[in-house]
Amino acid sequence: MRGCLDAYGYAEIRTPMFEDTELFVRGVGTGTDIVAKEMYTFNDRKGRSLTLRPEGTAPVVRAWLENNLGAEPGVCRLQYLGPMFRYDRPQAGRYREFFQVGGEAIGSAVPELDVEIIDVMMTMLGELGLRDLAVEINSVGHPGCRAVYERTLAAALVVTADELCDTCRERARTNPLRVFDCKSPSCRRVIERLPLLRDSLCADCKAHHAAVLAGLDALGISYRENPRLVRGLDYYTRTAFEVHYPPLGAQSALGGGGRYDGLVEACGGPPTPAVGFSSGIERVLVALESQPATAGAPRIWIAPLGDAARRQALVLARDLRRVATTEVDLSSRALKAQLRSADRAGARIAVLLGDAELDARAATVRDLRSGEQIQAPWPEVAAAAARLLAATDGKAT
Ligand code: HAM
Repeated sequence: MRGCLDAYGYAEIRTPMFEDTELFVRGVGTGTDIVAKEMYTFNDRKGRSLTLRPEGTAPVVRAWLENNLGAEPGVCRLQYLGPMFRYDRPQAGRYREFFQVGGEAIGSAVPELDVEIIDVMMTMLGELGLRDLAVEINSVGHPGCRAVYERTLAAALVVTADELCDTCRERARTNPLRVFDCKSPSCRRVIERLPLLRDSLCADCKAHHAAVLAGLDALGISYRENPRLVRGLDYYTRTAFEVHYPPLGAQSALGGGGRYDGLVEACGGPPTPAVGFSSGIERVLVALESQPATAGAPRIWIAPLGDAARRQALVLARDLRRVATTEVDLSSRALKAQLRSADRAGARIAVLLGDAELDARAATVRDLRSGEQIQAPWPEVAAAAARLLAATDGKAT
């Protein structure tokens, strides 16, 4: 994991295991479960309130400010790995002390930085051998459009107050967005009917979100838009995302993150945009252990015809492996025989490379179930395969 973050230029930072309580109250937000219920808070010998860090982003921002890391122009990319502490009911995949690995990129508002953050996380998990990860993404807007939405939401919650749990009735007054974190069945039913934040987004936030999705498409990272994803921390602005490994059930989130353009300022610094992610290491381990033995079976089969096509197949395979397990047929047989092998191996997508494709600097991407196929230029083959896979998995947006 560290090596992957190194390769993207994220330098290691180590922050202390505890911080002033105030940092998390201000950064993560008073209405969040983390601050309201899950912090290990104690007084030191001088009566100062300290808290074992429940997460790494606010401490990284505090250290960035204190050490004047913003003096260097450009984006500051930092990675961390260490224990975090949350007082929650322990269960499989949820512990009171757990380890997170994370990356934070401070100093730019461009949507491509959001894309890089999701890309580094997916690459990191992919290199560990995890497949079939589901990226969920949403935009929670900037404080301006969120304020408009929160008024709409608060009004909708007044009407449904009878169906809400006690906590959510309180949240409706103080921090209505947090209602989306509630797990109680009656609140979940209300949540299904609530107005959506995306309908209140301003033009700039919409454009930012569209650019993030376009960047993910360009990298062949498939995702599902989840308009109800708000994440349990108050600091997010615009992009919020989670990466799930669905077989893990209730604790399927291997990680998450998003943009937090207001956090540096909330911690006493100058207005500074930033975006980051973190991933729970224990959950990643559980996911790796639970992967079916067929995890190594190819989902994409490249069928090249001829020497030049075989060479190009190896190049395309590198991109395709970021999407799913990919095998290059190097048996030098006729196309029909290669496709029979693809079928026997259980592959879902075939990428065909013959003379016509080489001339066009393209490949034919075929869905082996429906027979549907398209021709994609080489740089777009991975994205085309990702779209077909998402469609056949029923995960398409
Ligand atoms: P988070 O979603 O609260 O985000 O936590 C990130 C990941 O840590 C979760 O997806 C999960 O894998 C793991 N995790 C959280 N709580 C536990 C627990 N009790 N036991 C085991 N694993 C757990 C954050 O912490 C943000 N700081 C992420 C971020 C970075 N946003 C921007 N930059």
